[in-house]
Amino acid sequence: MSSVVSTPEPLVFQSLDASAQPPLSAIQEEILRLKKKHNAVILAHNYQVDEIQQVADYVGDSLGLSYKAAETDADVIVFCGVHFMAETAKIVNPQKTVLLPELAAGCSLSDSCPAEKLAAYKAANPGLYVVAYINCSAAVKALCDVICTSGNAMKIVENIPADREILFVPDQNLGQWVAKQTGRKMRIWPGSCYAHVLYTVRAIESVKERFPGAPVVAHPECVEAVRDMADIVCSTEKMIGYCRENPADTFIIVTETGMINRLRRKVPGKRFVAGPTDNCGCNDCRYMKMNTIEKVRDCLLHLQPQIELPPEVIEKAYLPIKRMLDWSR
Ligand code: 13P
Ligand code: SF4
Repeated sequence: MSSVVSTPEPLVFQSLDASAQPPLSAIQEEILRLKKKHNAVILAHNYQVDEIQQVADYVGDSLGLSYKAAETDADVIVFCGVHFMAETAKIVNPQKTVLLPELAAGCSLSDSCPAEKLAAYKAANPGLYVVAYINCSAAVKALCDVICTSGNAMKIVENIPADREILFVPDQNLGQWVAKQTGRKMRIWPGSCYAHVLYTVRAIESVKERFPGAPVVAHPECVEAVRDMADIVCSTEKMIGYCRENPADTFIIVTETGMINRLRRKVPGKRFVAGPTDNCGCNDCRYMKMNTIEKVRDCLLHLQPQIELPPEVIEKAYLPIKRMLDWSR
């Protein structure tokens, strides 16, 4: 009996006309009023829903958001992303109010490296130079030597003295990719992003057949077999420059589907096909999508929920973040 394998219908999005900004909704207008009242800044990750990105002062990847958080002179930071990102904003601004619209917006990658386990591993293996991908808790950052993002991981690893043995936490996929690119041997923590590992060779092959010649643009959190199919592997922000500069008119975007909101606005005259998984034409991160426009309004109305961290964690976690910001300038 022959088995017929069905693949999800691809979702295709056309760039938006940059001059055709949709009118703001009543709730978006209210957010802008509250923002002014509290001298707040809204920072939004590339994976947030479009209506949140529209009211943000800055939309970007983890690296860009870290710089913006470190530079802001606002009194209140509304961080539209996930918990570890808002924690990073608090660590670089301990005196400011940092709001996360949905406090339960976590990250599977961050969860895959609990601080107690890392502390125990370090105690059993002294002398390691610990590089932490920014997708980890403040308590894990406090145990590390330097932080990196997908946008600067290579540069950070290349800066580490050659005589130091590296432990890379918590993403095995980003870690393997960096080790391959830099030729640097590293111990790698076995964590992963539940959403990015859903991309399979079969799903990406099927979409490539439907759009022959369309470059595949993948995030390094994807598994190696999927990364090997990509024309470029990069952070979410670097995807914008790549799609702008590449003469192709259609791109297959193998990262969280919210990224396409950003690409449609920033890259004119092109088409973006959402990277499918085996079961679905799109791939939304369940944590990123916990933030809604109503929750952004509510957090500005009540100045809650706030990110709170013990001072000793802030003090210890600041150093590796500062080192990253200095090294990647
Ligand atoms: P970027 O640093 O590329 O924005 O990625 C963050 C993230 O959570 C990817 O899943
Ligand atoms: Fe974490 Fe993955 Fe969601 Fe990024 S996409 S926030 S790594 S669970």
